[in-house]
Amino acid sequence: MRILAIGDINGEDGREFIYNNLSRILSKYKIDFCIANGENSAEPNGITRDIANSLFMSGVDVITMGNHTFDNKESACVLEDNDKVIRPLNYPPECEGMGYTIYDIGYTKIAVVNLIGRVGMTSADCPFHAIENLLPKLDTNIIFIDMHAEATSEKIALANYLDGRVSAVFGTHTHVQTADERILPNGTGFICDLGMTGVEDSVLGVKKEIVIGHFLNPVKRVRFEKEHGTVWFNGCIFDVDNSTGKTTAVERLRFTKL
Ligand SMILES: [Fe+2]
Ligand SMILES: [Fe+2]
Repeated sequence: MRILAIGDINGEDGREFIYNNLSRILSKYKIDFCIANGENSAEPNGITRDIANSLFMSGVDVITMGNHTFDNKESACVLEDNDKVIRPLNYPPECEGMGYTIYDIGYTKIAVVNLIGRVGMTSADCPFHAIENLLPKLDTNIIFIDMHAEATSEKIALANYLDGRVSAVFGTHTHVQTADERILPNGTGFICDLGMTGVEDSVLGVKKEIVIGHFLNPVKRVRFEKEHGTVWFNGCIFDVDNSTGKTTAVERLRFTKL
């Protein structure tokens, strides 16, 4: 089967791009299942009920989150109400929602797990131990991991730690796509970061002038407003063998027009 993972959908323009184009992307690339990171989909970040519903209606099957999970006041309710919207597994157990979901598509089950890194991020439990404890509970060998992290080393280490035990590990959070897509020696597909689906001419989706001003004067408080303009779609396709759960091909996607 072919599974598409979409990098951080960012703001109004990013989500409109998905609403308007995802069905054509899914049919063009013959996608069977779609995972998207939605931590920046709402304002200022996080997710709302309407956005989650619209992403699902557009063809997304599972929405993962990250360090911005709870930045919108509706996010906690969305997580509580919908088990197909997941937040990092290694967040405190007091947090609303779940860190993984298992999706039954009839002929097989697909597990999607959300982890968050600890290098250069706010504190969380160890993602390595969290996934190690979870793996025996997953009753499928098709397992996808969104490792939401800043450090390339942490993502590459986690992917290699899980090599041969999960179908694929894809990174999110940096909003910059890496060109290192590959299949690890024991059959786990990997890309260090999917990149974002948001406005290309921006700083990670935020208006350039605001971010430049922030670096020039970090003492002044600023509100990071999202940019409007041409969106680039960033994601990756993993071809998975249904019987072994291993990845057989990886294709990186980045475009502004279909
Ligand atoms: Fe993000
Ligand atoms: Fe993030």
